[in-house]
Amino acid sequence: MIPFNKLYLSGNETEYIRQAVESGKISGDGVFTKKCHNFFKNKYSFNKCLLTTSCTDALEMASVLCNILPGDEVIMPSYTFVSTSNPFVLKGARIIFADSCEDNPNMDAHAIEKLVTKKTKVIIPVHYAGVACDMDPIMELSRTHNLFVIEDAAQAIDSYYKQQPLGGIGHLGAFSFHETKNIVSGEGGALVVNKQDLLSRSEIIWEKGTNRAAFYRGEVDKYGWVDVGSSFLPSEIIAAFLLAQMECIDSIQKKRVELWRQYYEALSPLAKEGYFKIPVIPDYATNNGHIFYLVCNSNEERSALIDWLKKKGIHAVFHYLALHCSPFYIDKHDGRVLPNADHFSNCLVRLPMYYELSEQDIGYVVESIIGYYKKSASKSF
Ligand SMILES: Cc1ncc(COP(=O)(O)O)c(C=O)c1O
Repeated sequence: MIPFNKLYLSGNETEYIRQAVESGKISGDGVFTKKCHNFFKNKYSFNKCLLTTSCTDALEMASVLCNILPGDEVIMPSYTFVSTSNPFVLKGARIIFADSCEDNPNMDAHAIEKLVTKKTKVIIPVHYAGVACDMDPIMELSRTHNLFVIEDAAQAIDSYYKQQPLGGIGHLGAFSFHETKNIVSGEGGALVVNKQDLLSRSEIIWEKGTNRAAFYRGEVDKYGWVDVGSSFLPSEIIAAFLLAQMECIDSIQKKRVELWRQYYEALSPLAKEGYFKIPVIPDYATNNGHIFYLVCNSNEERSALIDWLKKKGIHAVFHYLALHCSPFYIDKHDGRVLPNADHFSNCLVRLPMYYELSEQDIGYVVESIIGYYKKSASKSF
């Protein structure tokens, strides 16, 4: 069986966990957490970085930092994971779903201005598959209307928009280190704080609403409850695992981008003939090899392809179910039809992608896809 995802271990994970355990300090904000913060900050020149227990938690911290109140409106793509939305719904916000671009699942940055009202507080671009949204018009809109931009960069580590690292462009950025991502810690995430005046509050919210971080730095002589907050910081065991992965990020990325390229080249001829579509990387964006997907011509075709690949021992999977028509939100959505989000929801299929995937594996997946279309198409190959 070629699985969809397989955990890659860089080699130092258990050694670093052993060191954390033997240090006797395994709660949060210790040596390994600080090393991860510094690594991330230095590599991508982020202003401030705080590890969290998930990207969902990083987005929840962002919702607190932006002071989301009942009735505030938050614009985000419909084609995303529930975690983009839940932290804001928990605070009583109304979600205004934007459609995807026609040729790529990211939200159409040029179509969101008409969604802005007096109640809009935040725009959340989601960089699907690690490919950047068009950030210039989004940042321009945020300046004109005085809105926060929170990048959902769950999938976007080590990817860029016009040479700027994703997660570092909006006021805040949220990353995921969930087991399926390029670098992982089982569950895990990080909040990047780019806006200067959110810095000090971010570490208070992170530490359960206390100024403990300032106390540890010797800036105050005691710490106490100074704001709202929660327990967003992970234990040192998670940070130790993550550091081992972070240190190998360059080789992980090199390999994944190469695997992505192999899929792209092998499947381009069929895509050109119209059997399916393959990812489009806009000129302003890079590709971080997070996901390789096909977009089938119909939902029936996608289901049949997934079944066919399963019979061949290949685990291919669909992705998000558009949130505007989810059981939870359908009666809260304003009724706008979002055809592109529906299309990706119905037709997108992700192919196996993980560090240890071999060229032969990719050859077999591609051959099996060609086999499917040969069998079902009337066109000749
Ligand atoms: C776009 C997006 N945002 C947020 C998340 C949530 O990430 P986590 O599982 O780290 O909470 C995911 C999960 O895959 C995601 O795809």
